[in-house]
Amino acid sequence: MKKYKLPTFLENQVEVQLKKLGIGIAESKKISDAVLRMSDFYIQNPDAQTPWKESWCQVAQIAYYLPLNYLRAQYVCDEAYKLSFFDPNTNCIEVGYGLGALTLHLGEVFRKIQGIEVSQTAHSFFQDIIKSQNSVSFNQVKKLEVDDKSCVCFSYSLTEAISVNQLKLADSILIIEPSTHQDARSLQSLRQNLIDEGFYAWAPCTHQGQCPLLLHSQKDWCHHRIHIDMPDWFLGIEKHLPFKNKTLTLSYLLMSKRVPELSLPQRQKVRIIGDVLEEKGKSKALICRGEEREFFSILHRDSKEFPHERGDIAVLCGEIEKKGNELRLKG
Ligand SMILES: C[S@@+](CC[C@H](N)C(=O)[O-])C[C@H]1O[C@@H](n2cnc3c(N)ncnc32)[C@H](O)[C@@H]1O
Repeated sequence: MKKYKLPTFLENQVEVQLKKLGIGIAESKKISDAVLRMSDFYIQNPDAQTPWKESWCQVAQIAYYLPLNYLRAQYVCDEAYKLSFFDPNTNCIEVGYGLGALTLHLGEVFRKIQGIEVSQTAHSFFQDIIKSQNSVSFNQVKKLEVDDKSCVCFSYSLTEAISVNQLKLADSILIIEPSTHQDARSLQSLRQNLIDEGFYAWAPCTHQGQCPLLLHSQKDWCHHRIHIDMPDWFLGIEKHLPFKNKTLTLSYLLMSKRVPELSLPQRQKVRIIGDVLEEKGKSKALICRGEEREFFSILHRDSKEFPHERGDIAVLCGEIEKKGNELRLKG
């Protein structure tokens, strides 16, 4: 199981940026108070702008949200690389880049990145952080101008900075959203709108059909989970918080006007979209491969180990039997 870790440069930047605010990275109680305030703000004002002018917001964004969103973005960019989703000849535009949790990864793919950010406070912290990565050529723009050569990217900024009408003009779109029921289901609906406008779903979906979780369930929402290994200073902050991140969850979408490269017959390729559930005599997990809401299962008598985890692409080979909504691998 892969564990995502912060790179040294980012840990250093967290320390440097906190110092500018007069806070040491080891002052975990002070930092956790700021995180709690930020979290309460997001819960009470789900559609409000991030209040960057407040020092508690700056502390929380630097020490808590930047590291976590950086790791979420790393997972999504890893998936994008695996699928050859990024076309370096497109122009990358990121909306609401904040401190650059996603930009820092996009800088490894695109020679130039354009970004829109309404907060100049966020931008000045960002400029310092991105400077530590010399290779990234970044340009702040005031207006979102999308054309058929654009790759438009969002990390936790779609609700605040949505511009769906412009999105449909793009070549490709990468969106990371919170893994809440509401945000994830809105993303699943946006996926359908984009398909109707001529886009192909590259990930997490492995098909162009309607989303099975929207079609057959009111309560399911598509989200993923990554395993993380956080440094001691971060765990120190979490110690004071009522919520901990043993694993990190996220919802995401990769869409493009380009046709995804599918080397296998489409219905053999499935995405594991649920945690592995242990039931009497079998292990099973929710999968996505088309419009049906289906599970993939393995009987314990055939194998004690379920070979996949949430987020994996699995290839269905061997003898598969369909039992109700279950695809069962015969041992
Ligand atoms: C929740 S923060 C996410 C920041 C960063 N992308 C991340 O993943 O950590 C949302 C960001 O979007 C910015 N934002 C909100 N509305 C915007 C708009 N209309 N245009 C550009 N940026 C916007 C906010 O200032 C804030 O920095």
